[in-house]
Amino acid sequence: MNSALAPDSGFVAIAIDGPAASGKSTLARLLAQKLGLVMVNSGSMYRAVTWKALREGVDPHDHAAVIALLHRTRLDCGDDGTYSTIAVDGIDPGEELRSSAVNANVSAVSAVPEVREALVALQRDYLNRASIVMEGRDIGSVVFPDTPFKIYVDADEHVRTARRRDAGEHDPVAKRDAADSGRVHAPLIVSEGAAILDTSHHTIESGVAAAIEILKQQGLKLA
Ligand code: CDP
Repeated sequence: MNSALAPDSGFVAIAIDGPAASGKSTLARLLAQKLGLVMVNSGSMYRAVTWKALREGVDPHDHAAVIALLHRTRLDCGDDGTYSTIAVDGIDPGEELRSSAVNANVSAVSAVPEVREALVALQRDYLNRASIVMEGRDIGSVVFPDTPFKIYVDADEHVRTARRRDAGEHDPVAKRDAADSGRVHAPLIVSEGAAILDTSHHTIESGVAAAIEILKQQGLKLA
């Protein structure tokens, strides 16, 4: 199912894409809160597979080994009414999803087409259950290409690196972006119809206000 609005259910998908630390998670979370939608973090799914690979000593660059790992993994993707939740073989990895090791290896795992195919199916399934704000890299281009509601969030590279540093995270932002933008399958792009929102000089509040204006222009009807 590729549509933005699930025709039977009337559910709506808002796609938020952008590079690392561009502010898309904060924006997606606040938009979901304001609009009463469920916020789905698709990156957590790629991080979850990476987390298990690292625990099992699977080389993230060995595609065959990663695919074998995927086949013996149960991912339960749900939500708590506000945010998406994820369990790997019944375990919630929690903050470990944002460890330096996961940051350093997630782009390799997410470049494996079979991983993407499996996770995109789980991502689309959310729209059968709720209206969502989903953030990631290929939400507007691959997961929900037909949605009219698409924002590409960006920020200067030094602003993004500083944000991660301020959050106490070691994250090779530029390296991850190069890998995510340069990969063959579902690279990070500004998808057709997406409006670009540069958050470099926005406060959180003004960024959310700008996003709501964009969504209204894209036809979102607010209650
Ligand atoms: O930390 P940040 O919010 O920037 O990234 P994330 O959304 O947690 O995504 C982590 C990694 O997962 C990205 O660097 C991509 O390699 C991958 N990813 C992807 O390939 N496609 C998505 N839709 C979401 C994430």
